[in-house]
Amino acid sequence: MDDSSRGHLTKDGIRIHEPADFAGMHAAGRLAARILDDVAPLVDVGRTTAEIDTAITRMVEEAGATSATIGYKGYRHASCISVNHVVCHGIPGDKKLKDGDILNIDVTVIVDGWFGDTSRMYVAGKLPRKAERLIEVTHDALFKGIEAVRPGNTFGDIGHAIQSFVEAHRMSVVRDFCGHGLGRVFHAPPNVLHYGRPGTGPVLEEGMFFTIEPMVNLGRPETKVLADDWTAVTRDKSLSAQFEHSVGVTADGAEIFTLSPGGLFHPTWG
Ligand code: MF3
Ligand code: CO
Ligand code: CO
Repeated sequence: MDDSSRGHLTKDGIRIHEPADFAGMHAAGRLAARILDDVAPLVDVGRTTAEIDTAITRMVEEAGATSATIGYKGYRHASCISVNHVVCHGIPGDKKLKDGDILNIDVTVIVDGWFGDTSRMYVAGKLPRKAERLIEVTHDALFKGIEAVRPGNTFGDIGHAIQSFVEAHRMSVVRDFCGHGLGRVFHAPPNVLHYGRPGTGPVLEEGMFFTIEPMVNLGRPETKVLADDWTAVTRDKSLSAQFEHSVGVTADGAEIFTLSPGGLFHPTWG
């Protein structure tokens, strides 16, 4: 069954899924999160991001699942690994991690046709104090956004909750990348902006599935994409962090599909 045959679309083109579809998203989300748990011991000084990605490819295969990113728009890896001033879409490679490097690992898997998309931060060696503050604020900003998820609120409420929190900590929200609807497809309407004004944008309804994935910079918000056409970096070379959950709108809030089974979502936990 393809995406167009289930549920219905709102006037903004956002799919309203059926109650039974939450189980599919839960299974996909849990696998993506479990893989991110299992990756944690591999992140260390001297390790390359290509080695970490190879392990992720194997974990996806062993689970009998499919990587959503291998072959996506020509991308060739099972993860994006974004180190230090890389904002997102970092390509795994042969550079060795150094003490104090912070990195986001982003994995999307397909299980029984459902997409589970999540990312979180890791550290190689000792976490520097400035990076710790950035990671803390970015993590908490994601949860400010998730707390704004309930029927009747708008996508602008989510963006505003994230932006106002981040800027109160004198950090900046990246504008050039956003979250997205997902379900039986990887990227669907709406664009989930991580900034905005309360009460603006489409109204949330039970059965919507989407990601929230704020990218936060210590410096200015501007980014640029490198010549490889993927790697996005901060223009001012400042440090950047990101956390991502896939969520579904329930009758009275949000279900997080990508909760860490081991309670390891944050690098200083576990
Ligand atoms: N997982 C990313 C997201 O959060 C998308 C990665 S696409 C890739 O939407 F091709 F770069 F892997
Ligand atoms: Co995403
Ligand atoms: Co992702």
